[in-house]
Amino acid sequence: MTTAVPPLVNAWNEWDPLEEIIVGRADGAAFEPVEPGSRPQLRDGSGGPFPTGPKPDDMVKGANEELDHLAEVLKGYGVTVRRPEAFDYTTSVKAPTFEVSNQYCGVCPRDVLITIGNEIIEATMSRRARFFEYLPYRPLIYHYWNNDPKMVWTAAPKPSMADDMYRQEFWDWPLEKRHAEMHNFEFCVTQDEVVFDAADMSRFGRDVIVQESMTTNRQGINWLRRHLEPKGLRVHTVHFPLDFFPSHIDCTFVPLRPGLILTNPDRPLREGEERLFLDNGWELLDAPTPSTDNHEMPLYCQSSKWLSMNVLSIAPDVVVCEEQEKPMHDLLEERGFEVVKVPFRKVYEYGGSLHCATWDVRRTGGAEDYFPNVKG
Ligand code: ARG
Repeated sequence: MTTAVPPLVNAWNEWDPLEEIIVGRADGAAFEPVEPGSRPQLRDGSGGPFPTGPKPDDMVKGANEELDHLAEVLKGYGVTVRRPEAFDYTTSVKAPTFEVSNQYCGVCPRDVLITIGNEIIEATMSRRARFFEYLPYRPLIYHYWNNDPKMVWTAAPKPSMADDMYRQEFWDWPLEKRHAEMHNFEFCVTQDEVVFDAADMSRFGRDVIVQESMTTNRQGINWLRRHLEPKGLRVHTVHFPLDFFPSHIDCTFVPLRPGLILTNPDRPLREGEERLFLDNGWELLDAPTPSTDNHEMPLYCQSSKWLSMNVLSIAPDVVVCEEQEKPMHDLLEERGFEVVKVPFRKVYEYGGSLHCATWDVRRTGGAEDYFPNVKG
């Protein structure tokens, strides 16, 4: 009789005790280019030109110090931590269907990869500068592939990223138009091809929640549904109509433990979609207003002040939080969580906080049903 090999890849939700995780790295990062799927802007509202080319050394060094520190803290909790390969993101890409002046960075593995049970899925991605972002993670994926015989590896269909995959006028729509059409959920990517970023999903055992966004279209969600539902999972689409530039769900809707989801008071769910959660005994808890205002965020950061919500759970009662996000610490501590505080402001510059900058590969636990009252 052969002894069973314990799985290396197993993660069914966002909160079970963490055993193995990937932490991003800032080496070789470049400023995100202007492209049909993205119009980066300076934070000061000056409308001045967004920098191009490599991120300055001090910005890379500062972010790396914080990422390295996070890795050490997680190791202190007994978690195995691995890192992607160093990669040069400053090079241009010329594909048959698109060209882009440079790539972006390896700080946010969450956007590119997701573990669902024993499966690792590489997202299609939605922006040209991020098309090849799976490459620095491939040595890790091969490590799991070679050492966990039950691991399933899926790369989603590659989109063309040609001009006609995008709706470029999106960027010029006035606010009134966005307001009037907020229930159409049409953004900068059209509905023709299968497009999704991994960070638009959130895992709840046998249920996966996906947000329709600038980075995930309806065809992307259809692909995920057809891929996951035959495996016994249920895929639920959610919408946040007041987020006019939605991208990645983890600053909007963040499950903390069974029965408790952190919600964004500026971005309520589309009316009626809260029922799925309330009817299954989940509490929706609004995040406190972050102490940092939008204009105080790092100049080149393309994310909102709600990075305060982008926490990483390492157990159902232990959450890693950015050290300056005091109102968030207070709320979590009131709710009985142990809050591990780490400096991460220099990573904000790269558009993410603790959840974005990590990709959990193994947590204890299995495919629980947290939605026993799902109809249909
Ligand atoms: N669009 C989000 C916000 O600004 C940022 C999400 C960042 N998440 C990520 N996985 N990169 O609120």
